[in-house]
Amino acid sequence: MVIVEQISEMQRWSDAERRQGRRIALVPTMGALHEGHLSLVRDGKMRGDRVVVSLFVNPTQFAPQEDFAGYPRDFERDRRLLDAEGTDVLFHPAPQEMYPEGFDAEIEIRDLSAPLCGAVRPGHFKGVATVVAKLFNIVRPHVAIFGCKDYQQLQIIRRLVRDLNFDVEIIGHPTVREPDGLAMSSRNAYLNSEERKAALCLYRSLRHAEEMVGCGERRGAAIVAGARAEIAREASARIDYVSLCDPESLREIDLVQDAVLLALAVRIGKARLIDNMILKP
Ligand code: PAF
Repeated sequence: MVIVEQISEMQRWSDAERRQGRRIALVPTMGALHEGHLSLVRDGKMRGDRVVVSLFVNPTQFAPQEDFAGYPRDFERDRRLLDAEGTDVLFHPAPQEMYPEGFDAEIEIRDLSAPLCGAVRPGHFKGVATVVAKLFNIVRPHVAIFGCKDYQQLQIIRRLVRDLNFDVEIIGHPTVREPDGLAMSSRNAYLNSEERKAALCLYRSLRHAEEMVGCGERRGAAIVAGARAEIAREASARIDYVSLCDPESLREIDLVQDAVLLALAVRIGKARLIDNMILKP
């Protein structure tokens, strides 16, 4: 596995691979890798002739009071895991390489960034859209793979690609869960053993809502109330949002007529956890 730190070197490598007719798959990450990330890499290996993984804890997607400084970082472990998966290139730029003095660009996907996490993390998705656009121009992939756990992020990236005509195929990879249902996340590292148990309330509430829909419940307010009640059974859980919305527009819906997205953000201890499920009537 080659480690590349310079943008110009990454672009040269990709251009040479493209000239050879090879298909490049990109898996963007912020490191602190877990099985969920590794399954994105495996997916990338099936879809491309070469797999590039970017590892960059992007400062512009964190608000000042958020966990940028404390975000889990273990480069040596990440490097070993990616090497073992057969990653071709690990792109690992320094912050000043990505955002040199005078950097002044910003991309905003307005409507899709407004609800859900966007409402509680203003500016977050501008940071994500901007860095992903940069990564696409640096790595020049044919295909890029993102986890469906970050559903809103995935929809925003799809819109970024559509609206700005990036020639990149976007793949949403199904959420990878622990055997007990907890969605894998780098932020699970913040949980102590009590909080780890409490965190199961996210998956329980999604399953409960799924059962309600399965039993014929169609009223959005009742489904959201059911999901909230399931989370509320955990005394340490604080709800940021529970939202039932259209999976494309992310606008809240009142009545389930078609597939809908149930999306949650819940704080447990220091961790802010998100999860979601598509519910089908
Ligand atoms: O999902 C993430 O890890 C990040 O938001 C991403 C897509 C790598 C952009 O920094």
